[in-house]
Amino acid sequence: MGNIFFNLALLIIFHFCVATFSVKPTIILTDQSALLALKDNVIQDPKNILAANWSVSTSVCNWIGVSCGSKHRRIIALDLSGLELVGTLPPNLGNLSFLSLQDITNNSFHGRLPVQLSKLRPLEIMNLGNNSFSGEIPSWLGSLTELRSLLLYHNDFKGSIPFSLGFLPKLEILSLYKNKISGSIPSSIFNISSLQEIYVRNNMLFGSIPSVPRDLPSLQLIDFTFNNLTGHIPKDIFDHLPNLKQLHLSFNLLSGNVPASLFKCKELQILSLSYNHLQGSLPVGIGNLSLLRFLDIGQNHFEGGIPEQIVNLTLLKGFDCGHNNFTGTIPNQIGNLKNLQYLVLGFNNIVGSIPPAIFNISTLYQIGLDKNQFSGSLPSNMDFWLPNLEELYLSANQLAGPFPVFISNASQLSLLDMAYNYFSGSIPENLGNLRNLIFFNLAVNNLTSSGMSFLSSLTNCRDLETLDFGGNTLIGGTLPSLVGNFSDSLVEFSAYCCNIMGSIPSEIGNLSGLINIELAGNKLARTIPTTIGALKALQSAPQ
Ligand SMILES: *[C@@H]1O[C@H](CO)[C@@H](O)[C@H](O)[C@H]1NC(C)=O
Ligand SMILES: *[C@@H]1O[C@H](CO)[C@@H](O)[C@H](O)[C@H]1NC(C)=O
Ligand SMILES: *[C@@H]1O[C@H](CO)[C@@H](O)[C@H](O)[C@H]1NC(C)=O
Ligand SMILES: *[C@@H]1O[C@H](CO)[C@@H](O)[C@H](O)[C@H]1NC(C)=O
Ligand SMILES: *[C@@H]1O[C@H](CO)[C@@H](O)[C@H](O)[C@H]1NC(C)=O
Ligand SMILES: *[C@@H]1O[C@H](CO)[C@@H](O)[C@H](O)[C@H]1NC(C)=O
Ligand SMILES: *[C@@H]1O[C@H](CO)[C@@H](O)[C@H](O)[C@H]1NC(C)=O
Ligand SMILES: *[C@@H]1O[C@H](CO)[C@@H](O)[C@H](O)[C@H]1NC(C)=O
Ligand SMILES: *[C@@H]1O[C@H](CO)[C@@H](O)[C@H](O)[C@H]1NC(C)=O
Ligand SMILES: *[C@@H]1O[C@H](CO)[C@@H](O)[C@H](O)[C@H]1NC(C)=O
Ligand SMILES: *[C@@H]1O[C@H](CO)[C@@H](O)[C@H](O)[C@H]1NC(C)=O
Ligand SMILES: *[C@@H]1O[C@H](CO)[C@@H](O)[C@H](O)[C@H]1NC(C)=O
Repeated sequence: MGNIFFNLALLIIFHFCVATFSVKPTIILTDQSALLALKDNVIQDPKNILAANWSVSTSVCNWIGVSCGSKHRRIIALDLSGLELVGTLPPNLGNLSFLSLQDITNNSFHGRLPVQLSKLRPLEIMNLGNNSFSGEIPSWLGSLTELRSLLLYHNDFKGSIPFSLGFLPKLEILSLYKNKISGSIPSSIFNISSLQEIYVRNNMLFGSIPSVPRDLPSLQLIDFTFNNLTGHIPKDIFDHLPNLKQLHLSFNLLSGNVPASLFKCKELQILSLSYNHLQGSLPVGIGNLSLLRFLDIGQNHFEGGIPEQIVNLTLLKGFDCGHNNFTGTIPNQIGNLKNLQYLVLGFNNIVGSIPPAIFNISTLYQIGLDKNQFSGSLPSNMDFWLPNLEELYLSANQLAGPFPVFISNASQLSLLDMAYNYFSGSIPENLGNLRNLIFFNLAVNNLTSSGMSFLSSLTNCRDLETLDFGGNTLIGGTLPSLVGNFSDSLVEFSAYCCNIMGSIPSEIGNLSGLINIELAGNKLARTIPTTIGALKALQSAPQ
């Protein structure tokens, strides 16, 4: 890093020689020596930026990443983001007494934040995200009262969130996500009237969510996802946040009901409460949140009906209430939700028929209706259009009637699970249209096929890994030799209890990827082709 004192001496001489230079040398030297100390503390500079550019032969104001005030020529901004620097922050940085922006995002600075940074009183933006800083989040940050943006995300900070952060009267964005912070969220946080966005997801916070004692009209985003927060969602969180747009509380240990005052958050666009222990019914007031785009409340203990009112949430792109105890029927007008991308109602106790209009919401890529008590049949004509559908879960219900033929137009489909229902009639012969099909389960239904003709078409699905049509006793016939034409991607082929006769075609031995073949409960001849005999997990034995 050279001899700083020698360089400083040169610089002083330089300054005294340039008559037009208006800044007091001692002051510019303070800033320069602070940055030279930083340069000294950088142990890796792979792009050779500081080494080549931060040269004492030019003013610090010309150094890369440095901005100076136009009149006083003191450093006001330091932006070293994304330079792949490795090192520590020297205490000398605390001497940059005019600094209002410090952005060193996306580097590998490590160590603790020197206490001298508490002298940076004019600092408005402190962006230290995506580095490797460790130690506790210092409480002296609470004395940087000009701070508007404090971004410490994606580091190795541990300990708790200092109460003093609540003393930052101008703070707008507080981002602490992806650290190892524990303890509880200090009540002072919701005392910052300027706060707009708070991110603490992916930490180890516990305790309850602090209450919101007064109106915080600025607050738009709360992200507490992936912590160990317990207790109830405080009632007043909805009373005092009239402009809240996003509330992320998923993956915690929250219990109790969703406060009925939810409807007061008229601006809410994302409500994410999945993976908690919440219970009770979903407040009907949800239907008044007309800007809602994502409603994720899966993996809780909610019960009662799905409020009819959700059909008015026409901007909804995602609705996931799977893995709860919802009962009742699907609101009939659900087809109003013309922007839905996913609809997940699986693993509940919902009854009744599935409104056909669901299958005409062309934006859907995932429909999850499995493990409920749906009955009735699915539409059997072609007038339904799911060009984006990738996953359709219908298994473990009481669905009957013919195979829904419109499925063959869902050209993006990769997963189709219709197992454990009462579907009857023949399996369509054009499913080979589903070129992206990976998983196809028809097990335990009442389906038929003449001469297993559907298999021929399915050999066009070159990514198919799982094919299970076992337990369809009405199928019968013999296994055609074209099963050897399936691609090597096929891992599981299951056709147990299908009244299959004859012998197992030797071509099945062509399927080099096959790990599991189940043919038990059929009327097959006793000879097993030797190639199959070599399969790793042959679960079947001809009767
Ligand atoms: C340092 O970088 C700045 C900005 O790119 C440039 O204007 C200046 O000439 C460079 N100085 C040196 C000594 O390379
Ligand atoms: C700047 O800060 C360092 C460490 O905090 C200190 O030792 C030094 O004297 C200060 N002043 C100047 C002019 O560098
Ligand atoms: C962190 O910074 C590195 C470059 O230093 C970058 O490659 C990476 O994508 C960044 N990660 C995040 C989460 O921003
Ligand atoms: C950090 O890196 C990520 C990933 O490359 C990028 O998206 C982000 O904009 C960068 N952040 C800053 C402040 O440069
Ligand atoms: C909130 O701020 C008020 C003053 O504005 C203060 O009296 C009170 O103690 C603060 N509460 C918390 C929890 O910080
Ligand atoms: C939550 O607590 C459990 C048990 O103490 C612990 O194993 C887990 O890592 C914690 N998770 C988070 C996100 O803090
Ligand atoms: C909620 O919307 C319904 C109409 O769907 C309306 O009658 C009711 O007054 C609204 N409630 C509130 C609190 O805005
Ligand atoms: C659903 O309710 C039953 C009976 O009250 C209970 O045993 C079960 O744990 C509940 N399931 C969920 C996911 O809440
Ligand atoms: C949907 O909104 C309209 C207009 O606000 C209202 O008349 C209707 O009752 C609402 N429907 C439901 C099911 O809440
Ligand atoms: C499905 O939607 C298309 C176009 O949006 C429409 O023409 C068709 O009639 C709808 N089908 C049914 C059964 O509603
Ligand atoms: C579905 O595909 C068939 C051909 O397989 C085509 O005739 C029909 O128009 C398609 N339906 C829709 C709604 O696109
Ligand atoms: C479907 O299969 C079940 C059991 O295998 C049987 O009880 C039922 O009668 C069958 N229904 C039809 C329509 O074949």
